[in-house]
Amino acid sequence: MYSEEDIEEVRSRNDIVDVVSSYVQIKRSGSNYFGLCPFHNEKSPSFCVNPGKQMYFCFGCHKGGNVFTFLMDYNQCNFPEAVEELADRCGYKLPKKEMTKAQKERQTKRTKLSYIYKDAANYYYSRLHSNAGEPGRYYFKDVRGLDKETMRNFALGYAGGGWNNLYNFLKDKGYDDSMMKESGLVAFDEKKGPRDYFINRVIFPIVNEQGDPVGLGGRVLDDSKPKYLNSRENELFMKRKTIYGFNIAKRTRRDMYILCEGYMDVIALQKAGFDNAIAALGTALTKDHVSRLKRGGKKVYTCFDSDTAGIDATLRAIGMFKLLDVDCKVITMGDYKDPDEFIKANGTEAFEDRIKKAENAFIFAIDARKRDFDVSDPEENNRFFRNMAGRIAILKTDIERENYIAVLSERYNVSPDSLRELVRDVSKNDKELKKIQEEFYRGYSEEDFKNDGFSEEDENKKRLVGRESIQKKGKAGLRETEGILLTWLFEEPNIYPKIAKFINPLDFQEGLYRDVATDLVKAYEEGGDFDPASIMCRFEDNSAHEEIAKMLHTKIDGIESDKDKEVLLKETLIKLKKEGLSSVDNAQAGAGARIRQIKEDIRAIETQDLL
Ligand code: CTP
Ligand code: MN
Repeated sequence: MYSEEDIEEVRSRNDIVDVVSSYVQIKRSGSNYFGLCPFHNEKSPSFCVNPGKQMYFCFGCHKGGNVFTFLMDYNQCNFPEAVEELADRCGYKLPKKEMTKAQKERQTKRTKLSYIYKDAANYYYSRLHSNAGEPGRYYFKDVRGLDKETMRNFALGYAGGGWNNLYNFLKDKGYDDSMMKESGLVAFDEKKGPRDYFINRVIFPIVNEQGDPVGLGGRVLDDSKPKYLNSRENELFMKRKTIYGFNIAKRTRRDMYILCEGYMDVIALQKAGFDNAIAALGTALTKDHVSRLKRGGKKVYTCFDSDTAGIDATLRAIGMFKLLDVDCKVITMGDYKDPDEFIKANGTEAFEDRIKKAENAFIFAIDARKRDFDVSDPEENNRFFRNMAGRIAILKTDIERENYIAVLSERYNVSPDSLRELVRDVSKNDKELKKIQEEFYRGYSEEDFKNDGFSEEDENKKRLVGRESIQKKGKAGLRETEGILLTWLFEEPNIYPKIAKFINPLDFQEGLYRDVATDLVKAYEEGGDFDPASIMCRFEDNSAHEEIAKMLHTKIDGIESDKDKEVLLKETLIKLKKEGLSSVDNAQAGAGARIRQIKEDIRAIETQDLL
């Protein structure tokens, strides 16, 4: 990781208004800038950028943070990547990260690989638009209904006939045989020599989240088999981690991703304006995909093919998303095979309507499971109901269980009481419950998702998890009280000297709030400015940034006169003191003195004029 000084230097050289406005349109209003929030869909601007605080905050979706957080959220990158990008932006030279020999080798291999795919994709792209590209252009335009712009956006290409076209091209570019072999773009046959992997196929470059090609997919132009070939997996490209279209979809303003099956589905949907379309390429959804999407923070609507394979993929996805608490719904397309066909036949608005009519995933899965039972036979019907009850039983909260009992009892014509009773009964049978759980979550447990894809941030995650558990215990009201006071002191620093003697960071019970309070007090005591945007840099995880931004934007209601102000300030301080009081650990040395002090403070706050 980079040093604090480097990080701070990069941060101070990148003005937040400047950075944000290169991605989002913002307009000045008073001392702030406002615009439409890039992180959720809205019609009137609630996204606020504050140049003084060097922070942003959305009053609608509560995303917020400093310049680094913004890039992390906007580009879906991690903290070091955000630092690197902003260092680049302001021309600041970060020290080279020390790499081991093995890392260096890996790095050069990666770089070379990424160049070879880029060059190959470029080659196939220009081939598509050359004289020899006519069959490819015909296929994309007339068979699949794509326009030139879409072909360009997805860098679609064409590999015509001939055994060695790409080989010769890459050779001229200076790639050696071993590199080509490694890329999987050229095969080397002992007798026949080098052979291009893709022949007579249209080409779909597969790009990573930054938009760089990491592999290629090739489709035949007719019905021959295999329909698709993909270049070999390697350290840049792993099918189990790759989400096609995510480089675009990660920026969508919609509040969900549309997860479909294939290249053409993503392309057709994006062409129709659904910039949130993505696909896990032909593989079943993996836990890497699910973790990644969870990190994207949006809902996921599945839109897999209508055949049995598609339905099975949907059910698998539903279980995994439910396990990770990702909001999931199911888009169905009736008689159409896949979203590509649907949209070609019915157009954008009809698909928009399918989105609106997306089905509840949990119920969809139960309806689907029902088909495995011959419910006209009472025995099988019993088993079906026990299965349903088991699924309800593994839901995480009572409310959730009750909500589903209400809807499902009506849907399946039983009384809520008997369903509830059955849920209780199945809950008692560990073995049965475990089986149902495994079936629904496809053998995965939450444990499987720990430390997944987050390796660089593990350290921070752990710190945060500790914090979160404290927060969950705390009352929401407590966080509000602490937030009000911090927001207030932050907005009106001149109040601080008047109440300084009553402010003790130890009175703040919420971990992160206490950290911020400590910094604020320190800054004010030293006569300096309190700079929360810089505090954030201590945390690599943007959820901490978000929380800091949120706590410093706590709504302070009900102040119309100076008197209101005095009253609210007193109330807030007393609440805080009382929380501090109840948190004193009697076993600790000095507990008695601290209790006396707090009580004295409370009395003083009650009786004195503060402002
Ligand atoms: N796929 C693959 N290899 C195959 C078949 C499929 O890698 N032999 C992957 C491709 O990424 C494909 C996805 O699985 O896009 C979905 O497969 P399928 O539904 O058969 O393809 P479609 O996208 O519907 O293909 P098309 O519309 O071009 O016929
Ligand atoms: Mn298709």
